[in-house]
Amino acid sequence: MSERKHFYITTPIYYPSDNLHIGHAYTTVAADCIARFKRMQGYDVFYLTGTDEHGQKIEKAALAKGKQPQVYVDEIVANIKSLWDTMLITHDDFIRTTEKRHEEVVQRIFQKVYDQGDIFLSKYEGWYCTPCETFFTERQLVDGNCPDCGRAVELLQEESYFFNMGKYAPRLLEHIEQHPEFIQPESRRNEIVNFIKSGLEDLCVSRTTFSWGVPVPFNNKHVVYVWFDALINYLSAIGYLQDEEKFNKYWPADVHLMAKDIIRFHAIIWPTMLMALDLPLPKTVFAHGWIMLEGGKMSKSKGNVVDPRTLVSKYGVDAVRYYLVKELSFGQDGMYSEEMLVTRINSDLANDLGNLISRTAAMVSRYFEGIIPEPGKASSLDEELIKTAQTAYQEATGKLEQLDFSNYILAVMKLVARANKYIDETEPWRLAKDEANRSRLGTVLYNLVEAIRIAVILLAPTMPTLTARVNAQLPVFIDPEQLTWDMAGKWGLTEPSRKVAKGPVLFPRIDLKTLEEGSAGEQNSQIAEEKQVKEDELITIEDFARLDIRVAQVIDCHKMEKADKLLVLKLKVGDEERTVVSGIAKAYKPEELIGKKVVYLANLKPTKIRGTLSQGMILAASSEGDQELEVLMINKGIPSGSRVK
Ligand code: MSP
Repeated sequence: MSERKHFYITTPIYYPSDNLHIGHAYTTVAADCIARFKRMQGYDVFYLTGTDEHGQKIEKAALAKGKQPQVYVDEIVANIKSLWDTMLITHDDFIRTTEKRHEEVVQRIFQKVYDQGDIFLSKYEGWYCTPCETFFTERQLVDGNCPDCGRAVELLQEESYFFNMGKYAPRLLEHIEQHPEFIQPESRRNEIVNFIKSGLEDLCVSRTTFSWGVPVPFNNKHVVYVWFDALINYLSAIGYLQDEEKFNKYWPADVHLMAKDIIRFHAIIWPTMLMALDLPLPKTVFAHGWIMLEGGKMSKSKGNVVDPRTLVSKYGVDAVRYYLVKELSFGQDGMYSEEMLVTRINSDLANDLGNLISRTAAMVSRYFEGIIPEPGKASSLDEELIKTAQTAYQEATGKLEQLDFSNYILAVMKLVARANKYIDETEPWRLAKDEANRSRLGTVLYNLVEAIRIAVILLAPTMPTLTARVNAQLPVFIDPEQLTWDMAGKWGLTEPSRKVAKGPVLFPRIDLKTLEEGSAGEQNSQIAEEKQVKEDELITIEDFARLDIRVAQVIDCHKMEKADKLLVLKLKVGDEERTVVSGIAKAYKPEELIGKKVVYLANLKPTKIRGTLSQGMILAASSEGDQELEVLMINKGIPSGSRVK
């Protein structure tokens, strides 16, 4: 039996100077999508992510919080790991640069490159930008500030070790020329080539002005420059100098994925380091664009970050991942707004995909007692649908191979659109009226089920819970956990005679209005419900008992700035105090509420509304369209903290 092919993909290792935002989630979800796709194709995949924990930036962030750097990063790394769990990231390893397995390799590499004469001691004078952990020459500064982030730089003069990167420039240029797939997209390649041609200076690879780093093995006054240290993670995590078999299995990496901000480090410094080590270069270094918000690139220092956790708790992990993969055309910058996210969920997922699945399942229930029918002979219309499915498979495969994410999704959604149109063209409800058309009706429904099966497999790398959720209603897979990519390339794999089951709405529509000002509607349900409550969606008394509803006394209340519908309420619930943001400002003045006892849902997941953490919600009744609104109040002497049941 031939050995399985290997595939090694990495994300940047992120700085744990602060919690991560959707910009980081973008790269990590995209890489996860590829890792899942390759596993479905049968590859032995190694997907690596992690954290870049040394350097002055981290040391300063820790000191500012009065913590030791290690203690500080340990806390943030725990959050990052739990974020990746929430986003269903399937990394095979999480490397931290403070781990011994990494530090040892950094020291051994530094020693080796020094011994062979490619690292030497000299003096450095230059401008250093700590947030970017980068040195600049006077000439590179823009108005005296960092050319990358615009912040102030410091003049540093110190004895340093240097890596003679320039020695490898001709070889690197030759490699780039001979391997057009090495730096992608092409625009980045041109930028890098021009940069190399303008001349590579020796790279300063050690620092003496702070100590939070890997000590230079033969001179412990110095710590290794954080980028020299960090890039080595791609080797240390797969056992370089430690586990030869594992290392040989996965190196060279197939894809280093990142945003364009750090392509130079990966396309210039990293390959020259690898050349000094006599190692093959990664096959592809791919730089995608940035997620931008109004006001520029998302960054913690600008205070315009979006927390992926909040989005996942509001819209579900599949929907958020779908949005990230689809909306942000790879290689270019993309604008993010919650409104665009909701529009995308409503149109692609609720309208197109969700409706296709629920309509098909409902028709199988209605016309065939819930049993998936046998197909009969295919008509030319059927052939067209089958052909669209085959094209979707081929295109989706090709686009994913090229890391062209948005076009991969488009290819699948073309199949979904074609299947919806097929329903309109075949009019199953008309066929159902005449017993003579029963076999044709069966064929039509079977074909729809097949189109769904294929679309869902193709979407599985992006939406990991979709296959199981669909299967619970429309059992197209024998085992939704054991899907292979080529199952989407074959028509007719669904076994007829399996039984559909009713289930929850796969992608509930979200009311855009509720986003605007956090109206009572948003407060009352994080995800807007489908209008009609189906019989099988009734809840039990145990379900109700999970809601912790309490009497709460309003002890303070004020209007939220620049939000004409929102009030911020301070509540006393028994001995505890809670803050709640509520969309009731049109119906109540703050002073009307202070002192009143309201009905409060205490165990709702906290969420940030306009920067304020809202812990739970107060209950209100409202008329259609929120014209009239009345907060539920307790008027007798029942004390705050009492349970409402
Ligand atoms: N620690 C270095 C990387 C070392 S890799 C050997 C670093 N860390 S970082 O925390 O700043 O992460 C930068 C990366 O995060 C980007 O290259 C990109 O992958 C991701 N992103 C951070 N903000 C982003 C956006 N606003 N948009 C898209 N990606 C973003 O650099």
